[in-house]
Amino acid sequence: MRRLRVFDTTLRDGEQSLGITLNVEEKLEIARQLVLLGIDIIEAGFPASSPGDFESVATIARQMKGVAICGLTRAVEQDIDLCAQALRAAEHPRIHTGIGVSPVHMAKKLMLTPEQVVERTAAAVKYAKKFVDDVEFYAEDGFRADPNFLVHVLEAAIQAGATVVNIPDTVGYANPWEYGKLISFVKENVKDIDQVTISVHCHNDLGMATANSLAGIIAGAGQVEGTINGIGERAGNTSLEEVIMAIYTRRDEYGIQSGIRPKEIAATSRLVSRITGVPVPDHKAIVGANAFMHASGIHQDGVLKDRETYEIIRPETIGVPENTISLSARSGRHALQHRLQELGYDVAGEELDSVYHSFLELADRKKEVFDQDLYALMGDAGAGP
Ligand code: KIV
Ligand code: ZN
Repeated sequence: MRRLRVFDTTLRDGEQSLGITLNVEEKLEIARQLVLLGIDIIEAGFPASSPGDFESVATIARQMKGVAICGLTRAVEQDIDLCAQALRAAEHPRIHTGIGVSPVHMAKKLMLTPEQVVERTAAAVKYAKKFVDDVEFYAEDGFRADPNFLVHVLEAAIQAGATVVNIPDTVGYANPWEYGKLISFVKENVKDIDQVTISVHCHNDLGMATANSLAGIIAGAGQVEGTINGIGERAGNTSLEEVIMAIYTRRDEYGIQSGIRPKEIAATSRLVSRITGVPVPDHKAIVGANAFMHASGIHQDGVLKDRETYEIIRPETIGVPENTISLSARSGRHALQHRLQELGYDVAGEELDSVYHSFLELADRKKEVFDQDLYALMGDAGAGP
């Protein structure tokens, strides 16, 4: 089995795009859950972007053990200095530095020649290596770069000491067969590529982020980057839970495994949704409220005969309890408490009385009370599945 590393950037690429800023405590709470989930690398932020982000990265680096903590930088010494400082207490620090490599990024954003971009690449990686062993280089907008130039830049990064090379589809422009082909091209043409890990980092502008990431992994990438619930810039990043379960459900065929504990997926999704305030759509793959619902008569009949007729993943696998109790105004306190317990809430005594009272008010208005209603009742509106 080939081991796939899972790199979570919910706290950097995810948070960066939301127009909201998570405080240190909120970021820490998410980071703790990411460790429980089994994430290999947590990208905790972009320390040079603000004092708050610096503090978040430094706090996560101090407190999280048994996981690599990463900070993002531009290919600029000042950014790298701050990142190294923020990561000082990390058990496994990683600096993620890089630069735009597509024609439009080089000419219009950076106003640099390709040669200057190669020089900056080598200089930034070399400088980051003074502080940490583990340096990841990102070739921003790598998918839209000239592939031969991309090879040149990646060779410069590897020669300067990069341990991981990240080839982002920054604007979500790729199709799976093209992205897979690019990763194969990099594998075949970049000198010493076998000495480093190739990472895939996709955006979802055309709804392809999961498919593109899988194509890259199958072509040989050893690390996948993404966010929980797919939150991120514009249409979002790759949904890690989707890639993880796509690999997990077919692991024997693909010969690939990750260190993820699938049972923590639902709890992680709920937590990220609650803390960021970004709801999970009902029909979202894996973590949407309807992901394990069977609505039509034919499907219900099939599932009652054999779950495999319409279910490729058992909900329990990702930590969603099988729903066997239908809650209504006729249900008692015990049934409510039982279901809440299955959803991860321990309520008893006066708290149970109060929740039960609100539950009855709701049940009088609705025929059936669903898990989403219970999450809302418990102050977790927008949580799911
Ligand atoms: O999408 C992207 O190119 C990025 C890099 C900064 C890694 O997020
Ligand atoms: Zn990105």
